[in-house]
Amino acid sequence: MGAYVSNLRSVPSEWASRAYVDAAGHAEKYRRSVAEPEAFWREESACVDWIKPWTKLSDSSFEETDFGIQWFADGTLNVSANCLDRHLTERGDTIAIIWEGDDPSQQRTLTYRDLHQEVCRFANALKMLGTTKGDRVTIYMPMIPEAAVAMLACSRIGAIHSVVFGGFSPEALAGRIQDCDSKLVVTADAGMRGGKQVPLKANVDQALKHCPSVAAVLTVRHVGIDLPMAEGRDHWWHNLRERALPECTPEEMAAEDPLFILYTSGSTGKPKGVLHTTGGYLVWAAMTHHYVFDYRPGEVYWCAADIGWITGHSYVVYGPLANGATQVMFEGVPSYPDHSRFWQIVDRHQVNIFYGAPTALRALMREGDEWVQKTSRSSLRLLGSVGEPINPEAWEWYWRVVGEERCPIVDTWWQTETGAAMITGMPGAVAMKPGSASLPMFGVVPQLVDGDGKVLDDTAEGNLCITQSWPGQMRTVWGDHKRFFQTYFTTYPGKYFTGDGCRRDEDGYYWITGRVDDVINVSGHRMGTAEVESALVAHAKVAEAAVVGMPHEIKGQGIYAYVTLNAGEAASDKVRQELVHWVRHEIGPIATPDVIHFAPALPKTRSGKIMRRILRKIAEGDTSNLGDISTLADPLVVDGLIATKGD
Ligand code: WT7
Repeated sequence: MGAYVSNLRSVPSEWASRAYVDAAGHAEKYRRSVAEPEAFWREESACVDWIKPWTKLSDSSFEETDFGIQWFADGTLNVSANCLDRHLTERGDTIAIIWEGDDPSQQRTLTYRDLHQEVCRFANALKMLGTTKGDRVTIYMPMIPEAAVAMLACSRIGAIHSVVFGGFSPEALAGRIQDCDSKLVVTADAGMRGGKQVPLKANVDQALKHCPSVAAVLTVRHVGIDLPMAEGRDHWWHNLRERALPECTPEEMAAEDPLFILYTSGSTGKPKGVLHTTGGYLVWAAMTHHYVFDYRPGEVYWCAADIGWITGHSYVVYGPLANGATQVMFEGVPSYPDHSRFWQIVDRHQVNIFYGAPTALRALMREGDEWVQKTSRSSLRLLGSVGEPINPEAWEWYWRVVGEERCPIVDTWWQTETGAAMITGMPGAVAMKPGSASLPMFGVVPQLVDGDGKVLDDTAEGNLCITQSWPGQMRTVWGDHKRFFQTYFTTYPGKYFTGDGCRRDEDGYYWITGRVDDVINVSGHRMGTAEVESALVAHAKVAEAAVVGMPHEIKGQGIYAYVTLNAGEAASDKVRQELVHWVRHEIGPIATPDVIHFAPALPKTRSGKIMRRILRKIAEGDTSNLGDISTLADPLVVDGLIATKGD
């Protein structure tokens, strides 16, 4: 994160007077959330309708001896009933979802009543296909209302969904289906992005060659293409829908029953199935959505994230729908048909609250202000940012050009593991600093530590930990509870380690500096360097590979791969293209290497460990200060790398 400038922007007075919390309210709520959690959560957990109210708040410990995380454990509820049924009397005819297709001529709206009926039908269809409570259902869908319908239908009957982003390859999809033994896959014939078809059902067919656990595939007709349907296995949603009743009693779930699995990349090994449970997650998603976006009935909210990521789970599906919001759901991309698309959608649907990622802003910023300025955007009153640190330049552009210095920006730091926003602005309460995610959310206790685990107080920069559990915390890694403990609670015993570096300034504001582990953040999407490496070494010509992040103007970070070819293989542009294609095929387009550096050898210590620090420096182009290289088995390797860079 470049130069650090404090640059405080005060809370606009109209916000201070109208928001759910002002500065004093924020401070008081935060204090109570930590000092009197029982009373605080008694109040805040009422944002959710409980079937049986909870009596025991939390039973959580990050210590090895009594490790475990539980919230509201004896309470019961149903998530879909909270997102749908409870709105029907007052808001049945209110629009829940305004869908905007990739093609700007395509739109659909669903009221809460429509959505309720669709979810009930879908839930009944899931039952017809033999799905019961606790079963895993993999959802591989485009951004269409049926994606949310499928998720809510699972939650209605107590099935555990695992949404896999539609941009992942059949191989990546297969791995995620196998890991959680899904019996059913929900997909669409195809999705549309930027005028191009994404062959979802064909990818599923490909993946299922390696997935014996899957007994049924439920396909939504969206694009309308002809498809081979496997007899006995494949079902069209529109056929089942005709037979499915629009009523389905929601299953009473315990607060700690699993709600969903979402796979995410870590610094080692294959992606982890992050498990979130029912009560704590819903309270956390709904509460944070309420305060961070200050949503009021009648307003139009739009989170531009895909449901394949946690942002789509918490801030397209569960948070806004639990709060009865009217929202835009967008299938396409910001650059199609042209670079005005986001702002045209804002005008067309009179969007008041817009939540997006810095990578999209940087890409649009580069195209020039005209694309924004030719739209009105007068409906906008709040802007949000998520997924990666927002550089001050992009922040200023968002503030000045998109929001015309009228709309506060809430920068929200969080992770797949944290369920929802953890360190964040709040429009009526927290003065803004461009580039800072601001202050901890109620109930969140951040701590900075140095490499040895020493706690750093006051103004400091270190590794970001969270010392106490919060309701939306992940509960386990699917099928590997040990890995959950080892990944997050052993680096700094007794604390949850986020993997992020962070600075705290003199006003107590937090500035996320980026990952300090072997995870890279490409366009706000997480990628494990180990995953890309294992894809590369699976190629017949590759002997060894090491992957690091590199600065990238639009994506935030790009993927820089050092590759040593097998003896007898000659480096060439053709091989380079072959490897790029191979990685896209193995993982998906988001893992596309930006640079393949054919390296004669990799810098290793005498014990054979690759020194990534040096590889990062060379990738950044900063070779003046490589630090101590005397522990390398062969220090000359470094000269070889510098000499071959850019070849
Ligand atoms: C990683 C988590 C937040 C949901 C989407 C990404 C980075 C996320 C911010 C932010 C600085 C951020 C962190 C974090 N990150 N939001 N506002 N400022 N960095 O979820 O895929 O689990 O990635 O994204 O490095 O650890 P994810």
